[in-house]
Amino acid sequence: GEAVRIAPSILSADFGRLADEIRDVEAGGADLIHIDVMDGRFVPNITIGLPVVRAIRPVTRLPLDVHLMIVEPERYLVEFVAAGADIVSFHLEATPHAHRALQMIRAAGARAAVAITPQTPAEAVRHLIPDLDMVLVMTVNPGFGGQAFIPQMVDKVRTLRAMLDAAGRSDVAIEVDGGIDVETVPAIVAAGARVLVAGTAVFGARDRRAAIGTLRSAGEE
Ligand code: DX5
Ligand code: ZN
Repeated sequence: GEAVRIAPSILSADFGRLADEIRDVEAGGADLIHIDVMDGRFVPNITIGLPVVRAIRPVTRLPLDVHLMIVEPERYLVEFVAAGADIVSFHLEATPHAHRALQMIRAAGARAAVAITPQTPAEAVRHLIPDLDMVLVMTVNPGFGGQAFIPQMVDKVRTLRAMLDAAGRSDVAIEVDGGIDVETVPAIVAAGARVLVAGTAVFGARDRRAAIGTLRSAGEE
């Protein structure tokens, strides 16, 4: 089938050796580096912020895919682009001004994505379609790595894929995030996902090249 892109999530990396961890997955064939920014408000966990994105930028040539799980994301979008983000996603549930937020990201020079939690239906992004570069469908409740994939998200991805295609936006990729592993990849890719975020499945493996290759072949069967 169509090519999938693998986006290792550094949330499951060893933060004490972060540059080496990023070089390891780049050498292992990763397509993007996924960076989970959490504020302890939108989600019940605090991770990393702007200084870490700035520090990562010179370490890799891969695009930085920054996933903001923060309240009032519009306050920080431009700063994350300036810090080195190539793609910025923010949560629809975290702002009443998603359309404006997408425009802010693009005006700052990055690709713009909206993320939706498991409770938000595909229909909720319809009005944003002309202004989107990607949609991130959470396949777990955001906040932590290592959680179990929610199988009901397969239907949501299928519905969203059909909606995007019907709107003439076959170019807009669907990214999935949470519980992505060799078991869950086939169904979610068949439903239309093409960017696969994986934390545990990549950084939890000793051989990252093998882990990335296994995910990629599970998605391309
Ligand atoms: C969860 C984060 C994910 C997380 C995925 O809120 O958005 O990116 O790192 O981790 P795994 O692949 O272990 O479910
Ligand atoms: Zn994420």
